[in-house]
Amino acid sequence: MTHRANTAFPILDVLAERWSPRAFDHNATLTHADLAPAFEAARWSPSANNLQPWSFIVGYRGDETFEKIAATLSGFNASWAPHASALIVAVTHTLTASGRQNAFARYDLGQAVAHFSIQAQANGISLHQMGGFDIDALTAALGVNEPLEIVSVIAAGIVADPSTISGEIAERENAPRERKEVSEFVR
Ligand SMILES: Cc1cc2nc3c(=O)[nH]c(=O)nc-3n(C[C@H](O)[C@H](O)[C@H](O)COP(=O)(O)O)c2cc1C
Repeated sequence: MTHRANTAFPILDVLAERWSPRAFDHNATLTHADLAPAFEAARWSPSANNLQPWSFIVGYRGDETFEKIAATLSGFNASWAPHASALIVAVTHTLTASGRQNAFARYDLGQAVAHFSIQAQANGISLHQMGGFDIDALTAALGVNEPLEIVSVIAAGIVADPSTISGEIAERENAPRERKEVSEFVR
């Protein structure tokens, strides 16, 4: 089955082909070098006042950071995401240089992750972002302190061969992809 978006207008292939798999190849590995282009894309993302209020904590499957992140995933996420090759914690810096709240901190982090995800897709690496994790436990486990705040966790890896998956994972992987119409959010 193709997961390519059924778009009403042509869009870039890399955008149409991006989707969020849950079936990752648990034998595939990623290295820092594999993810470097995607982090470079995040680096060149725009941000308010060029504050670049983002940082990322990366665990590779088998290392201590990965285990700490995996241990905080909740619900269904805890079953599939540990098969990914890397788990990446997206962190925002909440303050401006003058110590005020940066109203755009999360917006800018999200945009950096968007750049990251598209470059990763172009390099054959699939991502699945998650909000389902115990933020307090993860903050403590990784020693993240104010003014830094964890926002999301990203599973990164290589999509599993569809013939190797079954059950709830297969059901969710094969569900049709749905979106609002552009007319519902543009006026
Ligand atoms: C901030 C954020 C949090 C998400 N949290 C979860 C999650 O905890 N578990 C999950 O399976 N998917 C999660 N998703 C994935 C979305 O459900 C997915 O992106 C959406 O259904 C659209 O599907 P697509 O990415 O394949 O186009 C999250 C996505 C984002 C951006």
